[in-house]
Order: sequence, then structure tokens, then C-alpha cells
Amino acid sequence: MLRPALSIGLVSATVLLGGMALTGSASAEPGAAPAQSQAARYPADSLRALGDRVGLRIGTAVNTDELGSNADYTRITAEQFSSVTPENVMKWQLVEPTRGTYDWAAADRLVAFAKKNKQLVRGHTLVWHSQLPTWLSSDGYTTTLSNDELKALLKKHIQDQVKHFKGDIWQWDVVNEAFDDDGQPRQTIWYKAWGGLGYIADAFRWAHEADPKALLFYNDYNLEFTGVKSNAVYDLVRSLKAQRVPIDGVGFQGHLDTQYGFPDLQNNLQRFADLGLKVAETEVDVRTFTQAPPNENTPTNPLAGYAQESYWSRALKACLAVRECISFTPWGFGDTYSWIPGWFDNPQEGAALLYDGNLQPKSQYYVLQQDLALAAGAPHRSGPGAGHN
Ligand code: XIL
Repeated sequence: MLRPALSIGLVSATVLLGGMALTGSASAEPGAAPAQSQAARYPADSLRALGDRVGLRIGTAVNTDELGSNADYTRITAEQFSSVTPENVMKWQLVEPTRGTYDWAAADRLVAFAKKNKQLVRGHTLVWHSQLPTWLSSDGYTTTLSNDELKALLKKHIQDQVKHFKGDIWQWDVVNEAFDDDGQPRQTIWYKAWGGLGYIADAFRWAHEADPKALLFYNDYNLEFTGVKSNAVYDLVRSLKAQRVPIDGVGFQGHLDTQYGFPDLQNNLQRFADLGLKVAETEVDVRTFTQAPPNENTPTNPLAGYAQESYWSRALKACLAVRECISFTPWGFGDTYSWIPGWFDNPQEGAALLYDGNLQPKSQYYVLQQDLALAAGAPHRSGPGAGHN
């Protein structure tokens, strides 16, 4: 009787991928051809292998301080994910801390790691109000520079950065978080310099000129919920499309919290996709109330894990259900490295990722693994994501 090479019950098999260079994983099969000893492998039950089967890239944000120096962190990054996003090192503050002097070193290292491990890269992010170098603005809303200077600086920043990484970036988050929660344009230095949202179309055009093959995304949080903010971004991207601005997609950050109801995510992904755009979940985490430090990743309610499992599962399934959803990216994978406990600390929240403080997978991880495996058993998407540019 013929059996499928992979099935849910056979998830411990190892997939061989020609040319991959992940080391420290399973040893060579007996009798393996010499070429295969060079080949990197990752487990057939890894998120990336299961995602490949349904044409969905599974990504992670990467902390480049840990990459290379922390063996478990490095191994998991390579084994589990088919796309990587620099958590910080492509942000303006880090690439040009001193005016006129670029530092691409950390970002270049991540790009090289991704190539070696057959991963695609989400570039994050070109235009934002946050994490700007202090010579430009200390808060993103005020600056001593003139409007003309700001316009010239933003153009040069986009051109230089996109050219530097030309050919290496799958999706660029060109503009990040341009709207407030009330649906009004955020009054950033960029909005003020242009006297409106015109900076967004310019940014996409400049990025497209610099790397015509990269997919260009608008990225924001709370788009998951139907409401004034999601509607405002919807109107913006519809008008960009109507003006033939080269925008390819919209990123839903997906910073979820069990204290709020689960959002209307699938419908929102679908309505943006119906504008002729790709969509992606770009920064998923599911936070919950936790104990005071040093136990900031221990939920106060012992039942919280069940809610978190459900949110993770529904977030993934929303993407799986929308053909144009090309990647699903958690914002990191180990609770110790998550931005959540430091950012949401009054009241304390945490435990937002798929792996615990010892980099052991939590139940949330196994739920995603199972959802992906089941999706492969009932394929209803033919894979617009995997490998496509
Ligand atoms: C966060 C990083 O995770 C932190 O390390 C950093 O201190 C602040 O920024 N939305 C985004 C991300 O688009 O870039 C943010 O990342 C999280 C919210």
C-alpha cells in the first residue's frame, strides 16, 4: 500500500533540502550521497516545512544580538522559519546613527544568514516615526530640520537603503504606522513636512525605482479589527492603487492581547486582498496579563494559555483561509527576547510568543504545527506565497 511521504503521524521525518547550510541538525542518512552531507536539513514537523506544504512562508523577527552567539536561538531561527524580519537592525536609528554614516553590518549579517538557510527577508522598515536617529528627530513628531531638508533626507534614505539590499528583500515595509487609533493620520515629521499623506506615495515610488522586484507593503497594527483605523488604511491603500502607486501589499502586525476579543481578522485580510493586494501577518504575538518581574512571562491566570492557543490558532487560520495571505510572521519566538514585557508593564503583560524562556516550545507552538499539518491534508490554497517574488 502506498503511503504519502509525509503525514501528520510521520512528522518526525527529516526533510533534505539541497543547498541548505543549516548545521547542527540531524546527521546524514546512511548511504546518503556525498552532496547531501552538505545539504542542510530541517525537521518535517518544523513550522517552515509544514508551511511549505501549503504555500505559506512562516517567518520570525530576529534579534541579531542573539543570532550566531546563542546556539539554540540560532538553530531554531534556521530550522523553524522560512522568512526572517530584522527586529531592529534595518530601522533608521540603527542604519544611520550619525548623519551621513551608514552601518549596515548587522543587517547584512542577517541577510547572509537568510541566504545560507534558504529564507526570504522582510525588510522592516523605511518610513516610520519611531526609532529615528536623534539627529533627525527625538520623538518622531518634532524636528529642527526644515521641510525641504526632510523631504530630501527621506528620499535619500529610501534610495540608499533599498539599493543597498537590492535583490535580497522579498517584502519591504515601506511605511509603518501612519495612522492613529482614531483613524486620523499620525502627525509625524513626515506628515507635517509634506502637509498631508503625500509622503506615502512618494515613498513607494522611490522604493520601487530602487528595487523594482521587491514587494512593497504598508504595515500597521489594529488593522485586524474592523473600525475607524482599519477603514482609514483601507481608504488610503485603495486610493494609492487608483493612482497607480506601486504598492503590493498590506501587513497586519497582529499584536494580539487576550484581554480583548479576537478580532475580525479574516474578513479584514480578505477585504484588503480584494483590492488587488497581497496581505501578510507581520508581527504576531499574543500577550496576556502576567506576574511581576522576574516572572513577567508567567500568566496570572493559569487558564490564560488556553486563550492564547486559541488566538494563535485563529490568527494562523485567518491567513490560511485567504489565498493572498503570503506570510505569517510571529514577532520573535522566545518569551525572554520579546518586546512585550518591557513595553506593556503597567499592568504587566507577557508570555506572548511560541517558546518559553528556555527556548522550549509551548503548547501554542504545537497548536500551530497541528493547524499547518491539517491544512496540508485539505489543501485549499495553491501557494501564492512560497518562493514567489
Ligand atoms: C519593537 C522591537 O521589538 C523592540 O525591540 C524595539 O525596542 C521597539 O520596536 N511595531 C513595529 C516593530 O513595527 O518595529 C516594533 O518592534 C513593535 C511594534
